[in-house]
Amino acid sequence: MPVCSPGNRRRTGGAVVANGGQGTTRQRSEGPLGDVLVIVPTYNEAENIEAITARVRASVPEAHILVADDNSPDGTGKIADELADADPRVHVLHRKGKEGLGAAYLAGFRWGLERGYGVLVEMDADGSHRPEELPRLLDALPGADLVLGSRWVPGGSVVNWPKTREFISRGGSLYSRLMLGLPIRDITGGYRAFRRETLEGLGMDQVASQGYCFQVDLAWRTVKAGFEVVEVPITFVERERGNSKMSRAIVVEALWRVTAWGLSSRLSRLTGRRG
Ligand code: GDD
Ligand code: MN
Repeated sequence: MPVCSPGNRRRTGGAVVANGGQGTTRQRSEGPLGDVLVIVPTYNEAENIEAITARVRASVPEAHILVADDNSPDGTGKIADELADADPRVHVLHRKGKEGLGAAYLAGFRWGLERGYGVLVEMDADGSHRPEELPRLLDALPGADLVLGSRWVPGGSVVNWPKTREFISRGGSLYSRLMLGLPIRDITGGYRAFRRETLEGLGMDQVASQGYCFQVDLAWRTVKAGFEVVEVPITFVERERGNSKMSRAIVVEALWRVTAWGLSSRLSRLTGRRG
């Protein structure tokens, strides 16, 4: 993979650079990025897990896949075990019960960092994050610390989403952007590629977010730590099988956490100025 110099910020493919100007920008190492681990969190994805692993395998043959399953009642974990038995690059992390997307990803990241992977990818199990677009995300990583698959930049789109869901997502991104002062268009998006150094440097141990606001939490920490985020347009395709785990509780958690983060950062900036 060609490696861009850290100063090279303009990229092809419609990528949009978001460097918050919050904190200092870090120097990026220019060496090889290392092995890729695609982490797929699952809760009741028995109908989807086989197809998603096959599509990742076809799209990026050398990537490893980690299924992080929260003891799904529908037997997703057992199917994942069978896939792992048949393919040495498929792994399964069995968790004891449903603890939310955030906890599953944190466990998956730790699993991958301990084993030396250089790139850690977040991908939903239901096909919404098309594995066929993963090479484009990975291609942008030499020039970024975090690449975010984005629905809300030019070239990005959503297929088959109800208007209400689009409103919640766009509204959530806008609210987070304003509250936190983040220059990212799709802050809640969950199709991402992190360099290992980014995850090591953003204070993962302090993350308490459980639901989808985990995505906002990590994006904010990434920018605050001085890392550079690049948004690459994606086409998000609503799932055809199984059900979304989006709930009122997830929206409420996102609202109160983002509000609390925003207020406390304003307060500390204010008191910092006075002192
Ligand atoms: N292990 C585990 N534990 N996995 C979970 C849990 C959980 O508690 N909750 C959800 N998941 C998994 C699902 O099985 C799926 O693979 C992925 O997380 C995304 O869940 P969906 O329920 O399909 O999410 P969505 O389509 O409604 O939401 C999408 O949009 C959100 C808002 O933009 C996703 O892309 C989210 O990542 C995104 O934040
Ligand atoms: Mn989904």
